[in-house]
Amino acid sequence: MSHIDEICDGIYRISTQAWGFPITLNQFLIAGELPALIHTGTFPLYPEVRKAVAEVINPAKLRYVVVPHFESDECGGMHRFVAEADGAELLCSEAGSLLNLSGWDYSGPVRGVRDGDVVELGRHRLRFLETPHVHHWDSMMIFEETTRSFFPADLFIQPEDQPPVVRENLGKEMCRLYREVGIFAAKEPVLQTVDRIEKIAPQWIHPMHGGSLPQEAVGGYIKALREEPFAYDGRLFGRALPTH
Ligand SMILES: [Fe+2]
Ligand SMILES: [Fe+2]
Repeated sequence: MSHIDEICDGIYRISTQAWGFPITLNQFLIAGELPALIHTGTFPLYPEVRKAVAEVINPAKLRYVVVPHFESDECGGMHRFVAEADGAELLCSEAGSLLNLSGWDYSGPVRGVRDGDVVELGRHRLRFLETPHVHHWDSMMIFEETTRSFFPADLFIQPEDQPPVVRENLGKEMCRLYREVGIFAAKEPVLQTVDRIEKIAPQWIHPMHGGSLPQEAVGGYIKALREEPFAYDGRLFGRALPTH
């Protein structure tokens, strides 16, 4: 079951509960002159996500499908979203394009972006940050300059079902989830990215799991990332693996 809410000017959160893990799964639609979808959801969720997009815009008018890294929840619907919309382009990091699309079965239009690249959507404007090894080698994040909205994919997530906007400090719960699941290999690349995000000072952070964080809520999460352990400690989805 997915629902769609406008979080701030033209930025819509499409949220799906109960997709097999105890976290929400969010995609973000930027509805403007050139509409963009930030991550797509998994392959089986495509019809639901498409239906939610269609409540706001004609999905055939999508201009960009943005994939911050290649995992099924971020990219599972990409082929169909790009195929339906004439002139739509897939945007991912240059590393992501090299690593995951060349030699794969994707033959649609793709643009690999680098740190600092900008894509104009009309009144919205996307600026890309390459954030390698924050969860994945090919990781990138997106800053929308007009609403000062930051899209960090799996950074700043919160466990369980969450409302569209979260003001509560769930920083410790976030770090506990990261340790149990084992999604970050090391803390350094994450903390370097956290420093960059703090300098950007976004008005909103829109994680792909949990709720969107208004600026005043972000500090608690940054503090938790700086103070709590969150990197891989030998557990993968809660299962202990040999460490030596
Ligand atoms: Fe991910
Ligand atoms: Fe994700």
